[in-house]
Amino acid sequence: MKNYTSINDIDNIDTWISEAKEIKENPLKHKALGQDKTLGLLFFNSSLRTRLSTQKAALNLGMNPIVMNVSGDAWGIEFGDGTVMNGNTAEHIKEAAAVVSQYCDIIAVRAFPTLTDKAKDESEQVLKAFVEYASVPVVNMESATGHPLQGLTDALTISEHAKTSKPKVVLSWAPHVKALPHAVGNSFTQAMQKMDVDFVITNPEGYDLSPEITKDTPIIHNQEEALKDADFVYVKNWSSYDDYGKVLNTDPSWMITKEKLGDAKFMHCLPVRRNVIVEDAVLDSDSSLVIQQANNRTYAAQLVLKKILENG
Ligand code: CP
Repeated sequence: MKNYTSINDIDNIDTWISEAKEIKENPLKHKALGQDKTLGLLFFNSSLRTRLSTQKAALNLGMNPIVMNVSGDAWGIEFGDGTVMNGNTAEHIKEAAAVVSQYCDIIAVRAFPTLTDKAKDESEQVLKAFVEYASVPVVNMESATGHPLQGLTDALTISEHAKTSKPKVVLSWAPHVKALPHAVGNSFTQAMQKMDVDFVITNPEGYDLSPEITKDTPIIHNQEEALKDADFVYVKNWSSYDDYGKVLNTDPSWMITKEKLGDAKFMHCLPVRRNVIVEDAVLDSDSSLVIQQANNRTYAAQLVLKKILENG
């Protein structure tokens, strides 16, 4: 594997989950693999889990991680081709990616969407520019439309906690005060489509994810109906896709409560706003898998880095 930019880069999710479980059992087994190799982590946006778990994964493989907050700390990067750079950008991605490639054996990038320009976001301008102009492999640490490290983590977590051979998994929209990206919902949907699970999505009218992502996954606009007999309820807010980036609905009745959850396990990628997305009683109970999910971020990242190092 050269790059990991999307859940579509996973050839067989069951094999990948098995490999991630092996890594989790013995995280330092491949410590020699990354010796004298450098992972560069470039953040255009904030992070807690991705930043720390990906560094931890690199350290477990013997790599040296180096981190940069690009927004604010680096020169403003220009992505447009042929731009007369007499504005706020001081360095072109062609030079920036080539230079960072000399310092790093793998480059990992986080760059969120604008949520104002659908075409630009769907073009994955930042991630694709790094893939094009870097001479080393590129890992997506959450881009405009996908969060494939999170999606792989979530698949691993469901596999670990499933009590039946084909669990029912529900992706439920929940309210939020701000406009949030579609990336987590998109990658979770793509991961579930690759797994042998009974998968449905529930969200209010006007909040359907891109049909290019949801494909034939059932979308149920009645949350109560969707949650029936669920084994896993994965909760996430996203802004409208049709009315791109807009907050159309903050209806608190979509918040997940202990009563709605029933016997199902609760999942969320974190960070989560308590008593907006989900009530305290869920997060503070054994039904919540959010801490286990965050732990699995290390092993998902480690598997991805290991596959890239083995390919190199
Ligand atoms: N889930 C996740 O990606 O967390 P961070 O934004 O803190 O990295």
